This record gives sequence, C-alpha cells and structure tokens, in this order.
Amino acid sequence: MSIAASTREPPPPGATPHPLGALGVVLVAAGRGERLGADVPKAFVELRGRSLVEFGVGVVTSLPHAGHLVIVVPESRAAQALELVDGILPEHSQWEVSVVHGGRERHESVRFGVDALPEAVDTVLVHDAARPFASAALFERVIAEVRRTGDAVVPALPVVDTLKRIDANGMVHETVDRAPLVAVQTPQGFPREVLAAAHATAALHSEPPTDDAEVVQRAGGRVRTVPGELRAHKLTTPEDLPILDSFLTANAVGPGGEA
Ligand code: CTP
Ligand code: MG
Repeated sequence: MSIAASTREPPPPGATPHPLGALGVVLVAAGRGERLGADVPKAFVELRGRSLVEFGVGVVTSLPHAGHLVIVVPESRAAQALELVDGILPEHSQWEVSVVHGGRERHESVRFGVDALPEAVDTVLVHDAARPFASAALFERVIAEVRRTGDAVVPALPVVDTLKRIDANGMVHETVDRAPLVAVQTPQGFPREVLAAAHATAALHSEPPTDDAEVVQRAGGRVRTVPGELRAHKLTTPEDLPILDSFLTANAVGPGGEA
C-alpha cells in the first residue's frame, strides 16, 4: 500500500484549521464488485456519466468542515481517482484529499485508509463508495453523535419485511421477531483511537468482518445507532441499478451529491 499523491495546498500560515480536532473520511472504493459483474470495479461504474466514487467525493467535500478525505482504490485506478478529485474539488476547498491502494478484504482497505490520515484527525468516518447518494445530512448526523458520545455510530433502518428462518432446502422453520433488528449502512463514525485499536486486533479473527462496527464490536467497543436513510442504498447486484437511478430522477440528488 502506498500513498499515491495528495492534492490542494495546505491552509495559509497562521490559520487554525482544526480547533476541535480534525475530521477524517475514508471512502472505500477498492472492491472488485463481483456480485455486480460489471467490466470495471464497482466504484468506477457510472450512473448517468458520473462514477460512484465521484458522487462520494462530491458529498464529502461539500460538508462544511475542514477535513481529510482518503480515497481507497484498486492500484490500477489511482491516477484516475486523482484526476477526478482535481475535477471536483473547488480551488479553495477546506478538504485535503489523498488516494491510497486498497487491500484484498474490505477491512484491510479501511485500515490502509485510516493509516493514511494525518495525526491531527480524531474523528473518522468510513463510507462505502457503493452508497453514492448518502446525504450530507446523514454524514452530519453521524459526526455529531460520535462527538457527543465518544461511541462508534452507525446509521440504521428498521427492517420492514417479515423475517423467516429457513434451512438449506429453503423450508421455513420460524418467523423471527423483527422488532430488535435493524439494517445498518455507512457512513459509520468512530473516535479514531477506537477504530485504530479495533483494527489492530481484527486479524485475530478468521471470519472477515462485513462492516467497521463489527470490528469495534469484536474489540468490545460500544456501537450506537442514528436513523439511516433509504437513499444511502448500496449498489450490490444489477437489481440495485434502477433503485439508485431513481434517486437521480426528480432532482433528488444535486450536482455535488447533496440533497
Ligand atoms: N471495498 C474495498 N476493498 C475491498 C472490498 C470492498 O474498498 N477489498 C469497498 C467497495 O469498493 C465498496 C465497499 O467496500 O465501496 C462495500 O463493499 P462491497 O459492497 O462488498 O463491494 P465489493 O467488494 O466491490 O463487491 P463484491 O463483494 O460483490 O465483490
Ligand atoms: Mg465485497
């Protein structure tokens, strides 16, 4: 893993850019997208001419914070990622952006991204590029709750369908009480030291974690929820494409990815 490059100049001398400790965002975009089966890695699939990673960079750098964004991409896509950042970032953006190479598993990509954040960063959000339309309001909700509580925070949606437990033959055994169940999304937020310490011990487990909250849970950390949103839907299979496209119609998503 290596830092490919960094863009935009540092703040002017005398500026105090991060009085509360800095915000860092890791945008993970290094997956292969096997379930989607496109001819490019999933984060580089385009919706109406813009790639998923482009939408993600747009919403993060539209947040009214000074911050550091690390985009984690397949090695072959680093130059393309830097180019698109140059196209999106306004000249006097408060965001510093860098690009690093990902790992084989998602949690490795996250760790490489967190390692690339400057030391001043004390609050970290991890976001899937595969959720291109998560709103700025959702990012703000997660950031505020991490800073208020010092806990890990995940966006969660109630489960609306009736849930059944089935066996390998597809036979129903029982209905599962859905009341205590939620579906979780990204961005997920963490005090940096909580996430970094949890990732340092994650390798001890055989099953790869499917989200970052799981990494913190395994390390015994507290994870709390804030309300998620439908538009943070993840592109996983081709059936998700029309769902995401529906968020682009009726001006649901603006040019910077904002609502
Ligand atoms: N991701 C990553 N590095 C990996 C695996 C996943 O950065 N080694 C990122 C993906 O790019 C995506 C997010 O993690 O934005 C969520 O993962 P997922 O939906 O599983 O994406 P893919 O791994 O690309 O898809 P698939 O599992 O179908 O191959
Ligand atoms: Mg995957």
